Amino acid sequence: MLARTADAVLEGTVVGSFSSLGLSARRALPAWPGDPELHALRDKTVLVTGAGSGIGAECARQLAMLGARVLLGVRTPSKGTATVSWIRASVPGADVDVVDIDVADLSSVRRAARHVLSVEPRLDVVIHNAGVLPKERELTADGHEVTLATHVLGPLLLSELLRPALRASGSSRVVFVSSGGMYTQGLAVDDPEYAQGEYKGAVAYARTKRMQVSLVPLLAHRWAVDGIAVHAMHPGWANTPGVVDALPGFHRLMRPLLRDARAGADTIVWLAAARPAPESGHFWHDRHRRSAFRLPGTKHDEHDVMRLWEFCRDALDLPMR
Ligand SMILES: NC(=O)c1ccc[n+]([C@@H]2O[C@H](COP(=O)([O-])OP(=O)(O)OC[C@H]3O[C@@H](n4cnc5c(N)ncnc54)[C@H](OP(=O)(O)O)[C@@H]3O)[C@@H](O)[C@H]2O)c1
Repeated sequence: MLARTADAVLEGTVVGSFSSLGLSARRALPAWPGDPELHALRDKTVLVTGAGSGIGAECARQLAMLGARVLLGVRTPSKGTATVSWIRASVPGADVDVVDIDVADLSSVRRAARHVLSVEPRLDVVIHNAGVLPKERELTADGHEVTLATHVLGPLLLSELLRPALRASGSSRVVFVSSGGMYTQGLAVDDPEYAQGEYKGAVAYARTKRMQVSLVPLLAHRWAVDGIAVHAMHPGWANTPGVVDALPGFHRLMRPLLRDARAGADTIVWLAAARPAPESGHFWHDRHRRSAFRLPGTKHDEHDVMRLWEFCRDALDLPMR
């Protein structure tokens, strides 16, 4: 009870919760869920997108340590090969391969999914980690706003195309790496492509991270028939190349309090490997379920989620079930 209260107090503060202080304090509480067992992912295959740097690379390394075969989904091939060498240097004998994928480009997603299905009849975990915070509004080759394509459309299409391999696992997991930034935005269901109003990259980022979290309960329901669990999480604030590039002022100011990439990857790895499996359909931070709402005016209802889902299903030409 005391541990739950202490965690709730931390959760009420943003810096206390999202910084390295939050994870250290929570780890010391008795309610902290145990680490996955040593070889928890032996004989399991995991795909991590955006695995060529930051949280994704560290996450891939941790998953390899737990015995998984890890597919590094990257759009920059040199980063893929460098990450393979980096993982093998710290996990001798690690089973790691690179899959070329630009998650914002739907043809690339289709190509990558075809490739994965041809070499991996069974897939146990998919981690949608690739993320971007653009300076200006950009459209992808398919004509979609880039954060929508990277965080929502690409991951949805990839998961849907990989369903046969995820189903073959019998008990698979999909993890969306969202962001605490999503707390600042409501569900932009009237303008998912951010075509109206002054474009701000940080707002586009937060809106599409909100979309990920809002869709997870619906996806949990949709994919349950195939034994696929789905989670959204936020990693807290971690010191990664992405933060240095996209938020240099924030990085300078917060640097002493930022988590390292390993701490940023902690809950992703836990969601991928914990036994018993965490309950599907929720939003997680530091190994505990969290509310998806913090600020007034950011709530949505099931009708809004259904409208967003129908927009995505149309954009991706997905089947009804
Ligand atoms: N660090 C934090 O404090 C923090 C906080 C909240 C949420 N997150 C989330 O955590 C995830 C990892 O971010 P990070 O901080 O580790 O940043 P990062 O080092 O920039 O990693 C992001 C990775 O995503 C890749 N990526 C971007 N667009 C892609 C695309 N279209 N297709 C394939 N890969 C793509 C990047 O590849 P290239 O290098 O080739 O562009 C990069 O390797 C992101 O989803 C981010 O939103 C991070």
